[in-house]
Amino acid sequence: MLRGFFITFEGGEGAGKSTQVQRLAAALRERGREVVVTREPGGSPGAEAVRHVLLSGAAEPFGSAMEAVLFAAARSDHVEQVIRPAVEGGAIVLCDRFLDSSRVYQGVTGNLAQDFMRSLERVTVNGMVPDLTIILDIDPAQGLQRAASRRGESDADRFEKETIEIHRRRRDAFLEIARSEPERYVIIDAGASPEEVAERIIGNVLQVIGETDLSEVR
Ligand code: TYD
Repeated sequence: MLRGFFITFEGGEGAGKSTQVQRLAAALRERGREVVVTREPGGSPGAEAVRHVLLSGAAEPFGSAMEAVLFAAARSDHVEQVIRPAVEGGAIVLCDRFLDSSRVYQGVTGNLAQDFMRSLERVTVNGMVPDLTIILDIDPAQGLQRAASRRGESDADRFEKETIEIHRRRRDAFLEIARSEPERYVIIDAGASPEEVAERIIGNVLQVIGETDLSEVR
């Protein structure tokens, strides 16, 4: 059986994460790999039940610690019900947002103590640390514009609607986290064309999963 891998995508709003997750999934499936695509908050029935509470802003009045615990509850269910069984079964799991979103959105811009965030992580991630995390880096002004045009008439969610300054702090926080642990993270300029971004992503992923023959990838 092939070894499973866990790869997460992170970054600000409108960075193109879901498009790139789909492209990578297709490229890996073409190579004969079993791929599971998932996302947070959500990804399992239990976590999907909590998703609406978080994104509607229903938990916002109770503070960022409350929100962090809800994200953690959702993550724990998602890890145990979906991610771990798939990776142990030999699949490559691609997840649109994971623990680094909590570190940045709740920890940094929610002003929560690192100790508190680390305790939550220990319980929720429970050893299921990503093999690779791809940070899609984009100027927040450009990202928010993309996110707004994608959304059309519907309202921005509780996190997207925050000020540009907060989105800038999030961008800086993702970059700082990535630079502090270069073995696990790769930073990719999401302002480039979707094709260029996809090519850089697959190059990095093939290295991590131990298939480096780039000439086969198109
Ligand atoms: P969603 O519409 O699913 O995705 P995206 O913005 O990536 O297209 O929105 C998820 C929102 O939840 C997004 O604004 C980031 C936020 N979030 C957190 O604040 N903490 C977390 O741990 C996660 C997973 C997401």
